Formats: sequence, C-alpha cells, structure tokens
Amino acid sequence: MNYILAPSILSADFLDLKNQIKQVEDAGAKYLHFDVMDGMFVPNISFGIPVLECIKGNTELILDVHLMIVDPERYFEKFKEAGAQILTVHVEAMKDPASDLKKIKELGMIPSITLSPNTPVEDVFPYLDLVKQVLVMTVNPGAGAQHYIDKCTDKIRAIRQEAERRGLDIDVEVDGGINEETIITAKEAGANVFVMGSSIFNHDPAKATKMYLDILK
Ligand code: DX5
Ligand code: ZN
Repeated sequence: MNYILAPSILSADFLDLKNQIKQVEDAGAKYLHFDVMDGMFVPNISFGIPVLECIKGNTELILDVHLMIVDPERYFEKFKEAGAQILTVHVEAMKDPASDLKKIKELGMIPSITLSPNTPVEDVFPYLDLVKQVLVMTVNPGAGAQHYIDKCTDKIRAIRQEAERRGLDIDVEVDGGINEETIITAKEAGANVFVMGSSIFNHDPAKATKMYLDILK
C-alpha cells in the first residue's frame, strides 16, 4: 500500500504560507490539502482561487482540493486553471454526481468524491467506478481541530472492501481529527491517504510530517 500524507493548510500560518508549504514538502509529504468553504455548504468561509493560484507552480506537492461549496460544478474549470490536480466534491452538494465526476476527469483533474459523517456510505457506491479517490470525512466538514468521529471507521472499511470486491484501484483518504492514535485506526481500516491540519501546522510542521510518515512505515 502506498501511504500518503496530505497536510491541510487550513491550520497553517497564512503569513508564512510559502515557508510552511516548503517545510512539509521537504519533510516528505506528497499532497497539499486545500479546503474551500463557501459559508453555505458549511457555515465557515476559508479561502479560494486566488490563494490556490499563488501556490500553483511554487511546490511539487500534488494539489488536493476539497470543495465544501454548493453546486461545485460552477467552479470546476476555474479550479483546474488555478492548479487543482485532485478535485474532491461532496456527494451531498451535487445535483448530478455522475456527470460532475466525468466533467472533472474530462478537464484533466483526478476525480474524488466525499461524504459527511451523517451520510450513509452506500450513497457513494454508485460512483466508485468514476473516481480515483474516496474521501471519508471523519469530522463534520467546516472547521479544523475537531475530534475524530469513531463511527466513521466502519465507512473506511466498507469503502475499501467494496472497492476490492469490484477490483477498483481507489485511494481512501481520511480527513478530520487525525492524530497519532486515529491515524493507526484509519490505516488499519483501509485508509491510505491522510489529511492532517492541526496535527501538523499547530506543531513544528517538518518534525510532525516526519513523525507521521514514520508511523505509517
Ligand atoms: C475540515 C477540513 C479538514 C481540516 C482538518 O472541514 O476538511 O481538511 O483541515 O483539520 P484537522 O486535521 O485539524 O482535523
Ligand atoms: Zn478537507
């Protein structure tokens, strides 16, 4: 299994963003997780296209964009132009998930679907053959530094099992409340991509990245 760390800049020091991105990159992270919130799908507003454009071309990290916005299809082309490489969309936010996921692929991005903790896991099953990644939200979307919701572990397992049963090569990413303990729980359930905000950026980002990569070895 290929294990990947995806530091989430939601918890970064934005005045020092360039330096903080370099620290996690040099320490061995592979993705940079970018949380877009619109104040509608979730109560908070975070950051968007102009910030992503600044990052584009200034890092080798794969830009893993998580859209927490209503009707996300309105912005697919703009996110592609701004540098998104993996585009994650919420099953709850789309009117026509199959068509949206195909559009993401046609635009040259890697399609990824996600579901909030209260959404049944079966809701994403119809779309597994249209995605390269499923993101299992392990907190309610909308804020960093929340506690991992234990009942989500079964969803990680269910998605991994269903993908294997259907012979699909899918990454299972987890997002929310990942720390020294829950990273093991999620890994054992079948996750292989780990989003981490506060556990990395509220500490020394380089040291924390190295420590979590060691845990995954
Ligand atoms: C929450 C975001 C997360 C957030 C995770 O809605 O999707 O990516 O940054 O933060 P931590 O790792 O602090 O729970
Ligand atoms: Zn996220």
